[in-house]
Amino acid sequence: MAENFSYQPSQSVPVSRRQFLNFLTGATVAATAGAALYPTAKYFYPPSEGRADGRIIAKDKLGNPVPASQITEKGPGTRALVSGLAGEPTYLTVKEDGTLSDMAIVNNCTHLGCTFPWNEVDEQFQCPCHGSRFDAEGRVIRGPADRPLKISHVRVDDDETIWLIPWTETDPRTGKKPWWV
Ligand code: FES
Repeated sequence: MAENFSYQPSQSVPVSRRQFLNFLTGATVAATAGAALYPTAKYFYPPSEGRADGRIIAKDKLGNPVPASQITEKGPGTRALVSGLAGEPTYLTVKEDGTLSDMAIVNNCTHLGCTFPWNEVDEQFQCPCHGSRFDAEGRVIRGPADRPLKISHVRVDDDETIWLIPWTETDPRTGKKPWWV
């Protein structure tokens, strides 16, 4: 005679008070550890670079992110060099209102690629190699360079991270497509 197998719905397994407390303790420990480790993880894995717009974080020569206040505390008119897009040295400018300009100037002469200092007396970038001069926004004042300096966008997050973003739209200094795009 065939046995009569009938469907038995699964029975719920009772959770003991001890198991429940163990679960709560484990969850609390995990949350606490996560909160403690987050700043460390964030240091080693900073906000995601390599976004679609090609942005990178402005860094110092040792490769450490440069917080905005480290530059702005030096006051209006400051030109600070950071490592920018493609590792090119890039000038950030503190505006009169004490914030960073949203336009960065790449320190790469458009004549033959020398780097150059900012002359704060003449308020020009002056290339020591062959004498080209550029105004504060990188327009050519005197050759032999015949193209404006490359620029990039600057964005500052609430946590003071400085982002440099490729400038691919119209160059506001010429009203034309950028020569580097
Ligand atoms: Fe700057 Fe020649 S490389 S003027």
